[in-house]
Order: sequence, then C-alpha cells, then structure tokens
Amino acid sequence: MNIPDSLPVSRRGVLIAGAASAAAGTIPADAMAAPEAPPKPAPGAVPTSRVTLEVNGQAHTLDLDNRSSLLDTLREYLHLSGTKKGCDHGQCGACTVLLDGVRINSCLTLAVMHEGAKVTTIEGLGTPRNLHPMQAAFVRHDGYQCGYCTPGQICSAVGTLDEIRRGIPSHVSADITARPLLSAEELRERMSGNICRCGAYSNIVEAITEVAGVTA
Ligand code: FES
Ligand code: FES
Repeated sequence: MNIPDSLPVSRRGVLIAGAASAAAGTIPADAMAAPEAPPKPAPGAVPTSRVTLEVNGQAHTLDLDNRSSLLDTLREYLHLSGTKKGCDHGQCGACTVLLDGVRINSCLTLAVMHEGAKVTTIEGLGTPRNLHPMQAAFVRHDGYQCGYCTPGQICSAVGTLDEIRRGIPSHVSADITARPLLSAEELRERMSGNICRCGAYSNIVEAITEVAGVTA
C-alpha cells in the first residue's frame, strides 16, 4: 500500500489498525450475534402459560390459555361452578371472589396475572353442614330468591366487612380519615356493584348487618 508521507495517517498507524480488524475477525460469529429471539408460536396456536393458584386451600397448577379470565379458570378448568357468570363485563358482581382476601370481579382479571395467589370462592367459605356466618345470615334473612347472584353477594359482603374493619373509606364516608361507620348507607354503597334482579337488597343489608354485630 502506498501512502504518501504527507497524509496525517502514518504507515505504522495503518498497520496497527489492520492488525486490530484482523483480530476482530477471529471472534466466533455466534459470540457476536444478537441473542436469539424466542420462537414464535405457530400461526393459529394458542399461547399458554403454566400458573399455580391456591384455590380454597388447595394448590392447582394449570396450563392455561393466556386469555383465560379468573372466572373461566374457576368454572371451566377447576369445575367450581359456584362462582357465577352474569354479564362477563364487570357490571353485575355475580363473579365476585376473594383474591388474597380482597374481593374482585373474577371476570375482569386474567388468571395468569395471579401466580401464587390465594383464591376463595363460595365453595371455600363454608360447607352445607358448616356454613360461614355470612352464608347462615343470608339464609336466616332470606337474602336471596333465585340465588344466582348469591355466591357473589356473599363473597362481596365478606370483603365489604373486612374493608370497613380495615378503615377503608367509601364514596359515602363523611370523613375519609375517620373509621368508616357500619351503617346501612355504607353497606349499600359498598355492595352497589352486586346486582340482584330478584331485589333482595333490604334482606341482604339485614344479613350483613347481623354478621357485623350491629343493629340495622
Ligand atoms: Fe363479572 Fe358480571 S360476571 S361482573
Ligand atoms: Fe335472584 Fe339475586 S336472588 S338475582
């Protein structure tokens, strides 16, 4: 290579640069390559995930369609049909369950979001021979007619009393820094996401009030 001495690059510099690029060429090609992308699912294949949930005290490991709601997982994969599908759009409360102790509309959340969570459905609250106090109060106060909304109402009622006991205010709490009252107004507001087409509302409030240990 003829490099005129007048150029700012010296012959020695060109030789060093050439040696460096030759050395780079000896690095294995796979070490230089970008990390391999995960394989794409075949067209039409359903993406799945393995999820473990503790449902009513029992661990279940499931291979789920990623799009499965918690409601469909309970009903279709685990055959726990006590949790009802009313609207499937978060508008009726029939699908209410307790997730790590907090009530949730199970139709509005994906099961794969809750790896390791503890889920309690109506089947896990009590048994026919040993009813949960809220179940027994609903029976005593006729808090239902057809019963379709009742599992969600009862799970929601259990969650409601827990929220009040933990001091969580609602839209009708006059003072959000004070402990919420166990009033009928508070109960109606907090239970307003649970619709009952049979109109058992007043009896439901009486049942919850009894369990709360106060007079309606
Ligand atoms: Fe979930 Fe209606 S079925 S809110
Ligand atoms: Fe029938 Fe509530 S008891 S919808």
